[in-house]
Amino acid sequence: MSDPDRRKFLSIATCAIGGGVGLVSVAPVLRVILDPAGKETVTSPSAPLDLGPAARFVAGEPPRRVEVIAPVVKDAWTAARGVVLGAAWVTRIGPRPGDVDARSAICPHLGCGVGYDPAQNNYLCPCHDSRFALSGDVLSGPSERGLDALPVSVSADGRLLLTWERYKIGQATKERA
Ligand code: FES
Repeated sequence: MSDPDRRKFLSIATCAIGGGVGLVSVAPVLRVILDPAGKETVTSPSAPLDLGPAARFVAGEPPRRVEVIAPVVKDAWTAARGVVLGAAWVTRIGPRPGDVDARSAICPHLGCGVGYDPAQNNYLCPCHDSRFALSGDVLSGPSERGLDALPVSVSADGRLLLTWERYKIGQATKERA
């Protein structure tokens, strides 16, 4: 090998080794920088939702729709506040303050939003026409189970508290998602 060839070879080899060393040392740094990419965190309401005085839900009145709002939804670099996660239908079913029934408005069939049909005084899912009684039971349609009951309680000062939960759709059994 002549001198110019040797110099050229050494120059290329040095660059190749340097580049490899550089990549090895930069990779962990890149991993740290890109780490949150693609990750999303939904901060559900950590405490039960305060729906106001339990007495405002009156026997014989139609169900009331309550929106469930997450305080914060974060992805890798941004945070959105006040994001609607879902909704619930709330009905008084007895005279005591805690006699309140709350149902998730997420259809257990394939997850569409269930509405209240005042003409028939029951719930209807517009996607595939599953119909549900106010008790949540399936009356007709493809849904394999009734509307999912959500936990409710009454605080010492008479306020109605609702705990938001999501359940798996498309199955007969109620199971937390
Ligand atoms: S999603 Fe409600 S009936 Fe299909």
